[in-house]
Formats: sequence, C-alpha cells, structure tokens
Amino acid sequence: MAKQAQAPTERAATKQNEKQNGHTELNGQQTRQHPGTVAADTPSMTSSNAPSSPIPGPRSQALQAERERYLPRGVYTYHPIYPASGSGAEITDVDGNTYLDFAGGIGTLNVGHSHPAVVAAIAEQAAKYTHTCAHVLTPEPYVALAKRLAELAPGSSAKKTLLVNSGAEAVENAIKIARAATGRPAVISFENSFHGRTNLALALTGKLRPYRQNFGPFAGDIHTAMYPYCYRNGHSTDAPCTCGWEADLERLFLTRVAPEQVAAIIVEPVLGEGGFVAPPADFLPRLRDICTRHGILFIADEVQTGFGRTGKMFAIEHYGVEPDLMLMAKSLAGGMPLAAVVGRAEIMDAPLPGGLGGTYGGNPVACAAALAVLDVYEREGLVERAQKLGTMARDRMYAWQQRFPLVGDVRGLGAMMAIELVRDRAQRTPAAAEAAAVLAGARNRGLILIKAGLYDNVIRLLMPLVTSDEQMTRGLDILEETLAEVNAQPASAFNGAH
Ligand SMILES: Cc1ncc(COP(=O)(O)O)c(C=O)c1O
Repeated sequence: MAKQAQAPTERAATKQNEKQNGHTELNGQQTRQHPGTVAADTPSMTSSNAPSSPIPGPRSQALQAERERYLPRGVYTYHPIYPASGSGAEITDVDGNTYLDFAGGIGTLNVGHSHPAVVAAIAEQAAKYTHTCAHVLTPEPYVALAKRLAELAPGSSAKKTLLVNSGAEAVENAIKIARAATGRPAVISFENSFHGRTNLALALTGKLRPYRQNFGPFAGDIHTAMYPYCYRNGHSTDAPCTCGWEADLERLFLTRVAPEQVAAIIVEPVLGEGGFVAPPADFLPRLRDICTRHGILFIADEVQTGFGRTGKMFAIEHYGVEPDLMLMAKSLAGGMPLAAVVGRAEIMDAPLPGGLGGTYGGNPVACAAALAVLDVYEREGLVERAQKLGTMARDRMYAWQQRFPLVGDVRGLGAMMAIELVRDRAQRTPAAAEAAAVLAGARNRGLILIKAGLYDNVIRLLMPLVTSDEQMTRGLDILEETLAEVNAQPASAFNGAH
C-alpha cells in the first residue's frame, strides 16, 4: 500500500495492526479507474496502514485540476499523483504517500532518485557556472564526458561524441550525420519502434496512435521494415528466427528503396515503447551484415536500453555488434536533460563546422551529473545488479504466466522485463483495459508502473538499478496481488473500457 508519512508511535501501531489484520483485499470496481483520470480512488487496502486520504490525495487532486486547466491534454500522464521527494527506488507524493517507483522516469533513473553523488556533482557545477554554450566556450565537463562515452561505446574503432538535450534530438542528429557521411537520402526504421516526438523522429516511429496521429506530413524518404516481434508474428522466439523479417527487408529493397540509396537503418536493440520485445539472437548480427554489405550505416537507438538496463552497459553488447552510430539519453544523467550521439570518428566528422550543436547541448550541469552517474555505475556495480534484478523479475513473471491466463507473454533482457496481457491465450487478444486496471490497482497498493506496446497491454518494469532485494520483492508482491485480482474479474468487466 502507498504509505502515509507517520509519526514513530503511529508506525509501531501500524506494524502491530498489520500483524493482526494479515493480508488485504482490493475492491475490484476501484481498480478499473483509468490511471489518467482525476477522480480519486478510495484506498483499497483494509489494513490499518492504508492512507487516511484517498489516492490521489487532496493536494494531488488540486494539482491535477490546475494541470488540466493549464497544460495541454497532449501531455499525458499515467498517474494523477504529484511527487514531493524521492530517494533511491521510492517516491513520496505531496500528500505524504510513499510508493515504490518501478517506472523510474521511464528508464531515466537507473541510479535512483536524487543519488547523493549526483546531487553533489550538480550543486558543485552549478556553483561554478551553469552555462556558456559550447559554441562560445566549451565546458570542460563536455569534453570529459565526450571522451568517457567514446571510450565506453562498444567496438574498437576511434569514436567521437555529440551532446544534445533529448533522445529525439539525438535521433535527428544521427540522421543528419548519416546523410552527410553517406551522401544518401533514405532511412529505414522498424514497425513498432519509438524514436521520439519531433517531426523526423515521428517519421521514423512505427506506432501511429497517439504519437504520429494528426501530426503529418512527415519528413520524406523514410521506410518501414518488420521488426521480429515473434509473439505477435505467431512464430517461435528461438533463433534462427522464422518470422520473415529478412525477406521483408529484401522486399523493401525491391519495391520501395534501393539499398544504395539508404543512408542508415535505425534500430532499437530491444523495443522500448513497442513493448520490450527482445529480438531473436541472430537479428542484430544479420542486420549488421546487411548494412555492411550495402554500405548502409547501422544506428543503434539505445535511449531506453542503455546504461545497464539489460545487464550490459549497452544492449547491443549482448549481440556482439558494433554500430556505426549509437544514441544515448535517459539514464545518462540521472534525470538531467542530456543525450548523446556517439559514433565512428570519420562519420561523426562528416557535417561541416557549425552543422551540429545547439544552445544548450552539453550543458555543464547536465554533463557533471552524467560524469557522477557513470562513477556510480562503476562504484555500485549497477550493470551486474541489473542481471540480479532481472532474474528476480523473470522468475516471478514465468510463475505468473503459469498461474494467470491474463499473462500471455513474458519477455525482455536483463532488468528490462515485461508481461504482455491478453484476454485469450489462443487469439492473443490484447487486454489493454486490464493493463490499465493493473496500473491503477498497483498504484493504490504503493507501486508505480507504466505500460508499453502497440496495443497498450504490456506492463514494463523500469525500476532503478539501486532497488534493494527487499524493495524488488515487495514491488513484485504488489504486482502479483494486483494481477491476481484483475485476472479473477470476468472479461465483461472490461468490455467497452479502453
Ligand atoms: C528508444 C527511444 N528513442 C528515442 C526516444 C525519445 O527520447 P526523448 O523522449 O528524450 O526525446 C525514446 C523515449 O522514450 C526512446 O525510448
């Protein structure tokens, strides 16, 4: 349950009551609340540590009303609760309720909320100077971080680094660089991919609603290939893959764009927004071969998969592939807006001086945060930790698949794990309303989760990699309890919902 901040004596009484009350119940009606709505869910736990306020609490409800008044509805939020403070894997809202945060700012907080080393680095740099603009005076932390990322990126070739402000901006710049380096216009991306919300990034993105809808026309000469999403393509997830992605790509070369016109293929090593689809083991090596054969640049979009999430520093390392360009963002800087394009030096040098950059790219405070974050990964062994957390999640998820017909697929890589919910195992009918109910029910028990997937029916885990064993177990317990409840409800309870 989301915990209300308590005085020490109250806490002792709570513990005593917890013992007496044993386990808790949820009211099924309440879990059908859509997570983005303003109406408050009545607390669903019966134990005495239930928050005294409903969730969202009164302060969050007031902020939600202001949000609706002053923010455009396009800025969607999963949960109508408002953060007051965070530490590690926990976040406390403005009403004093504390939650386990297994969304981590959508994979931005692998080092957890407000890691003391990162906070100190930000404060130290901010006290020295906050900005100069790299085009005027390049901050020392920019140079230090460029070197560190170039050395960290997989592969033996000499590399250079461009720093920008967001994942989408990294995508835009990678395409500019690839076109300048190859002199070719076309780019290939994949169905079910997500590359950001700017116009070119949307042109590359393989999901229509809500990202692309009503925002065209998009940048030209972008072509879409099939990603081996084997659960939905109805084939085995074992290598060699038989879903036909390679034949699809060859057909694209015959019917839409000649390979010698293609500057780059951009690919997520594991689909992020697309539902944590880890491809068969031979997909990326074979794609690399195709790129090399045709002189096409291989761009790995590691914005969501990067910085330890999959149990290696970068997901592409699982597949022994060296990309020509790599995109990094999210957990690079502990939540500070920072992203990078790291690539082979001769490719990165293709654009003319002044062709790359921007006012804020490589801001020194963000760079100082990133340098501290990279130290934390090393010092605290967070890449190895991701493997342990991933194993804990995977074991429980496979057990849920046995127990709950609702859990159609379990998949992912390292700590990037997800479950795909279906109404019917044979037809694999997406259970989007049920997934929304799981999010709301888990939140009312004190766990923040988010969804993913083409059909909005995938529950993904992006907990910070500093999550303790106890927190991980507690979070998985909450998810299990909520799944059991939603699984027990008849499908008719969700008909007409979305
Ligand atoms: C794989 C991938 N690429 C690009 C982006 C866009 O990043 P940003 O939201 O920082 O623009 C995202 C964001 O979720 C992503 O997951």
